[in-house]
Amino acid sequence: MSGFVEKPEPVQVPGLVHLHTGKVRDLYRDAEGRLVMVASDRISAYDWVLPTPIPDKGRVLTRLSLWWFEQLADIVPHHVISTDVPEGAPADWEGRTTVCLDLSMVPVECVARGYLTGSGLVEYDAHRTVCGLALPEGLVDGSELPAPIFTPATKAEVGEHDENVSYEEVARRTGAETAAELRQQTLAVYGRARDIARERGIILADTKFEFGHDADGRLVIGDEVLTPDSSRFWPADSWEPGRPQPSFDKQFVRDWLTSPASGWDRTAEVPPPPLPDEVVEQTRARYVEAYERLTGTPWQ
Ligand SMILES: Nc1ncnc2c1ncn2[C@@H]1O[C@H](COP(=O)(O)OP(=O)(O)OP(=O)(O)O)[C@@H](O)[C@H]1O
Ligand SMILES: [Mg+2]
Repeated sequence: MSGFVEKPEPVQVPGLVHLHTGKVRDLYRDAEGRLVMVASDRISAYDWVLPTPIPDKGRVLTRLSLWWFEQLADIVPHHVISTDVPEGAPADWEGRTTVCLDLSMVPVECVARGYLTGSGLVEYDAHRTVCGLALPEGLVDGSELPAPIFTPATKAEVGEHDENVSYEEVARRTGAETAAELRQQTLAVYGRARDIARERGIILADTKFEFGHDADGRLVIGDEVLTPDSSRFWPADSWEPGRPQPSFDKQFVRDWLTSPASGWDRTAEVPPPPLPDEVVEQTRARYVEAYERLTGTPWQ
């Protein structure tokens, strides 16, 4: 079992058509055919959208993505049009709204990895490959790879795991030309972002992008970019291959959910419980710290 513990009702705004309630973002279309993306404070873990929001999380994700889109603008066109809150929308949408191009999304999660961990490590341990790409012997959890690799995945529905796929599979699904472009763009953007993060004492271990085609058939980067939800950021000063790395994300949430304190059994067919205030506060602080360290500007 998985999904939303409590699925939120979409907000009705005159002039906007509700399209989709994602795990974190709500999507609407405005009268001009633009997409209005509203990042909520929802947080997901273990394939569940938890019942407890993390205050400011949606604003952190929105502002951090906007900052990154600007850093990357000379490498890849992005989907952002404005951050104006549509007329008649709740005041709470301020800071969490991105008005963007309504892209025809490519159904591939474009992952770049510079370090080995997570599902990459699982495949490596079994086959010495990641997404079918051969890697050298002797790598451990947290090892830097000889060079960054493109490790695409197929996008799953809420409650399902994304599945790693080979480059050939991407080419079958999208066509050879788009697949080549996705790989090239993903690695170019990863390389730039890794260098920027490194200057700020943060390792960008891996990250996921989503691309889509605009009305002119141009490949554009969309969704959120380089946030703690879409990326693994590790503090560089405590990086030590051979063990799981501390990271700027949901670690407090995962640790608490799997601890006896939560009383929750991940393997049982029951939704996770609400988070205690302390876990909420620690998690909020982690997201804010990631924003502040990466952008070099204070949150408020
Ligand atoms: N410019 C865009 N045009 C069209 N769709 C977009 C654009 N940018 C992002 N999207 C889509 O908006 C949705 C954002 O929702 P959200 O990330 O909250 O949920 P999700 O993708 O269902 O879950 P998760 O990201 O956790 O797997 C995604 O389906 C994404 O593909
Ligand atoms: Mg998403």
